[in-house]
Amino acid sequence: MAKLKTTYFCQNCGQQSAKWLGRCPSCGEWNTYVEEVVQKDEPEKGGWRSPSAGPGGIKVAAKPKALHAINYEEQPRVHTTDAELNRVLGGGIVQGSLVLIGGEPGIGKSTLLLQIALSLAGMRVLYVSGEESEQQIKMRAERLDAPTSDCHVMTETSTQNIFRVVEHFEPEILIIDSIQTMQSSLVESGAGSVSQVRECTAEFMKFAKESGVPVFMIGHITKEGSLAGPKVLEHMVDTVLTFEGDRHTTYRILRTTKNRFGSTDELGIYEMLGSGLRQVTNPSEILISQRDEALSGVTIGSMLEGNRPLMIETQALVSVATYGTPQRSSTGFDAKRLNMLLAVLEKRGGFRLGQQDVFLNIAGGLRVEDPAIDLAVCAAVVSSYEDIAIPPSVAFAAEVGLGGEVRAVSRIESRIAEAEKLGFKQMFISKYNMKGLDTKGFKINIKPVSRLDEVFQGVLM
Ligand code: TYD
Ligand code: MG
Repeated sequence: MAKLKTTYFCQNCGQQSAKWLGRCPSCGEWNTYVEEVVQKDEPEKGGWRSPSAGPGGIKVAAKPKALHAINYEEQPRVHTTDAELNRVLGGGIVQGSLVLIGGEPGIGKSTLLLQIALSLAGMRVLYVSGEESEQQIKMRAERLDAPTSDCHVMTETSTQNIFRVVEHFEPEILIIDSIQTMQSSLVESGAGSVSQVRECTAEFMKFAKESGVPVFMIGHITKEGSLAGPKVLEHMVDTVLTFEGDRHTTYRILRTTKNRFGSTDELGIYEMLGSGLRQVTNPSEILISQRDEALSGVTIGSMLEGNRPLMIETQALVSVATYGTPQRSSTGFDAKRLNMLLAVLEKRGGFRLGQQDVFLNIAGGLRVEDPAIDLAVCAAVVSSYEDIAIPPSVAFAAEVGLGGEVRAVSRIESRIAEAEKLGFKQMFISKYNMKGLDTKGFKINIKPVSRLDEVFQGVLM
């Protein structure tokens, strides 16, 4: 018997080492090295073998071609009925592409892909699950009121068996749920290990490229945010979509992290209902809670998610700290940035926030990284502190600097247009955004400001 060949892999980033290491030199994580058997026996057996391959599965060597001699036609894309998905993929599913959908367990990845599979009427879809039984998938399909379609399901974890089935079944789309449960006989280590996940991905990639069948793979993401085990996976595939959201709220965001066939600035928003995921075509309307009377501490800011402007509700609660050190807590907004804004308000605005508890919440369970929300956050904090409500028809879009100055933000026109579309009457923006901005076309009343105090004089007096 041949000697087993083993290597140590970092389960976090996929780094290889001949010997065990306590700390990964690549990602810095401790105690992540695991020994895996990498011996490959009989490499000709199994794996995807393209019908065009020569005898014994050996492919004829490729020859270099002049770039101008290569015929190129725009790849026909499969347009799904899901407009959000089409958008994040850059305009539909590309033939022969390998798409990885990553997300935390329970966020709704299987639901999303099953729903897509069911909506592709007239296409032969093969949904391979290594996690759930056929009955469980059927149960889920019953909940989604999707049209009947040519979707077939199969429970299988061996890639070799999958390829054997695929050869006869000839699906037009292949869905793998999930890559961490797949196992190739070419690698000895267990399912979910770095070498196994890497090998299986490579096999599906080869299959997709040679057969032209688009493959969707689900990948679980660990708490740290990396694809479980291997980040290695991300650079192997064509497109990486991440499905995120708070499990306790109903909104989910599908974001393009990498796309060889389109822009990475796209995102789709869904709402998880009892009957599956619903596309949210006008996100701002749901992100702003319905209220008739004005409440103190609530403001509406503008944020860009990818290329889409969204109006989002920021809520602040400022109250006297009764127990020792004042608390600062923020949900959906960077806590350090909140502290910075509070310091600016204290120093430049003269608001005595040092002895106050400050709670900040971005409604809808979204996470905002766009600094254009700063002004809305400051206004919400001051509004709660002074207990003076800001009219619900006022919106904010500007960054706040350390000197208390109100700074310009990107793509101001589309932000204003979104606010106007949603019926806001007044919008505070930075004076520095006014250059080249044609305000005549807008019905909304634009208030250019350069300092924080001008804002508070404008809305709080
Ligand atoms: P699931 O797709 O199994 O998550 P993942 O594959 O990412 O692990 O979805 C899990 C959650 O979605 C589960 O807690 C139940 C919820 N859900 C609904 O709310 N409505 C539905 O119609 C379905 C199918 C699931
Ligand atoms: Mg699942």
